[in-house]
Amino acid sequence: MTADILRLATPGVQGLSPYQPGKPIEELEREYGVADAIKLASNENPLGPSPRALDAARAVLHDIHRYPDGNGFGLKKALSQKLGVTPECITLGNGSNDILELLARAFVQPDNEVVFSEHAFAVYPIVTGAVGAKPVVTKTRHWGHDLAAMQAAVNPRTRLVFIANPNNPTGTWTRKEELDSFLRAMPAHVLVAVDEAYFEYVGEPDYPNTVAWAGRFPNLITTRTFSKIYGLAGLRVGYGVSSPEMAEILNRVRQPFNVNSVALAAASAALEDDAHITRVAQLNRDGMQRLTAAFRMLGLDYIPSAGNFVCVDVKQPATIVYEQLLREGVIVRPVANYGMPNHLRVTVGLPEENERFINALEKVLRTKD
Ligand SMILES: Cc1ncc(COP(=O)(O)O)c(C=O)c1O
Repeated sequence: MTADILRLATPGVQGLSPYQPGKPIEELEREYGVADAIKLASNENPLGPSPRALDAARAVLHDIHRYPDGNGFGLKKALSQKLGVTPECITLGNGSNDILELLARAFVQPDNEVVFSEHAFAVYPIVTGAVGAKPVVTKTRHWGHDLAAMQAAVNPRTRLVFIANPNNPTGTWTRKEELDSFLRAMPAHVLVAVDEAYFEYVGEPDYPNTVAWAGRFPNLITTRTFSKIYGLAGLRVGYGVSSPEMAEILNRVRQPFNVNSVALAAASAALEDDAHITRVAQLNRDGMQRLTAAFRMLGLDYIPSAGNFVCVDVKQPATIVYEQLLREGVIVRPVANYGMPNHLRVTVGLPEENERFINALEKVLRTKD
């Protein structure tokens, strides 16, 4: 029965595996009988959203029997002011994942190729497979995207290139000059999606703000999200910034009400609270320093990261360490499914969560010696 149903799926979908989310805290507590578990597994903001976003969300609850504004007028206006682009350049999504999927649905055909990097975000192969196109996976250089290899992989069948900047799970980032020359070299039949889900966390001086480039490259789209630094992952809202022509095409295929009214209100309010974002970014920088100092002390290599997470090499199959950390009530993310069997990805948490993780890791590794 199951096998027959599988045969009915499109060939692209037959080869896919579902996206693996981080383990929910409740599941761990239930399965392992531990209390007070912490989750550093899904790159969430440990401080949560701005109180202004929560107030705005509560304020619209009385109206949720109405459909949301299908054009997201208020949020597009707030974003356009913040980003210095016209509202016509913005496409709203049910998370930025939605935009990644819309791109594939609107532009990519089964005889097309989609280029992305090894160890890149897991959604790229999923949206590629879902439309039956061929994924072309390029090798990384020092864990980061090798743009020269990606450029070399482009051919007349290529329709879309995904660049995660910074990338999840590696945390590596692409520099301004390199990305600029890559975009200049792209032929007109190739769309480039620069995925900036962690944009607001990045403090590197040579990190590009590609939203400012939308006018220069008609085939460029930048995607960003309210799930990460804005702390609204549960509400699902993200956006793309592109030429108005590309946005218009994406709007043809999106669901009419893909962003709900609570998310629209909360996201607009979140944009107004710069002080909250500065606080979250600072907490992240401090936490990243603490985690990486601990890795050095433990003699573990890690991949320098520009995001709110870091991959550490535990020098053995990481699922074993992951399981032992679960018993200590600490959820992190093994990344073997990203071709990184000895790494664990850890999201920067609150100071006390970081300490709890470090102590647990030290204990687990000591017990192994
Ligand atoms: C690189 C990258 N892009 C996009 C996303 C999608 O996030 P969302 O759909 O919540 O905006 C994530 C989330 O983990 C991510 O890590």
